[in-house]
Amino acid sequence: MKVKKAIIPAAGLGTRVLPASKAVPKEMLNIVDKPAIQYIVEEAVASGIEDILIITNRGKGVIEDHFDHAFELESNLKNSANKQDILEQCNKIANLANVYFLRQKETKGLGHAVLCARNFVGNEPFAVLYGDDVIISDNPATKQLCEAYEKYGCGAVGVKEVSRQAITKYCTLDVSPLEDNIMKCHNLIEKPSPEEIMSLYAILGRVVLPPEIFDIIAKTEPDKKSGEVNLTVPMVELAKQGKLNAVEYEGIRYDMGDKLGIMQANCEVALKHSEIGEDFKNYIKELAKTL
Ligand code: UTP
Repeated sequence: MKVKKAIIPAAGLGTRVLPASKAVPKEMLNIVDKPAIQYIVEEAVASGIEDILIITNRGKGVIEDHFDHAFELESNLKNSANKQDILEQCNKIANLANVYFLRQKETKGLGHAVLCARNFVGNEPFAVLYGDDVIISDNPATKQLCEAYEKYGCGAVGVKEVSRQAITKYCTLDVSPLEDNIMKCHNLIEKPSPEEIMSLYAILGRVVLPPEIFDIIAKTEPDKKSGEVNLTVPMVELAKQGKLNAVEYEGIRYDMGDKLGIMQANCEVALKHSEIGEDFKNYIKELAKTL
């Protein structure tokens, strides 16, 4: 079945990037000239997704404003002969896709945020694009996962190999090869201790899941320590039923929920930017001489 719906959970507290995320949602932090969440919506659209639900919460209304028309601004730009390009870009944002919004009333974890989208998704497979993970790729990462879902009829988690030190912050996967960059996933452990590491493959930012996951999430107890319902525990059940694959996707992933990730994203995207790329490269070269 074709994947046509996506959820972007963007209701987290963003504590790792405070105080930047105190009044501005971390998903609205920019990479050069666009907020992170716009890159993510554009990736979903480029992957063939038709309907997108963004999960927000109190204080994240600016995300809705960003995907709406801004009439005063647009009429102002219309009257400036040399600002037609930017007017077109602003108009395009409001017409990118069918973008819907839903509030997660309590920050109870990623699994809980996904469960909030149950009525929106219905009985279809769906993609989850984590709202703070931007992936830059000529071949959109979500598209790569959707193709794997459509080929195998199994959930698909997007993975990358990370260092032994980094895996303890993510989720380790027990995998065996299927074809090229696709593996069967047998088990997952969130934030493993060094003894629990099963491989250095970690889920980074994208998953495509079957609708059966909702019943599994609904039965999942909140984590005893954090009180949150994560998405890993329900995915373990899918894996144990033989219904989960891992796709090592092409693309560079930036963690916009992390200070270093924000700087890496801005630096690398700026170097390739059509308007400022050359000037920025010269600036970086000069700066490097002083380091
Ligand atoms: P994270 O765990 O990276 O986000 O969740 P966080 O909770 O904001 O992180 P800290 O506070 O800096 O550690 C991954 C994605 O899931 C969303 C977040 O917005 C992020 O995009 N999320 C997380 C929700 O939508 N709801 C939640 O209850 C938790």
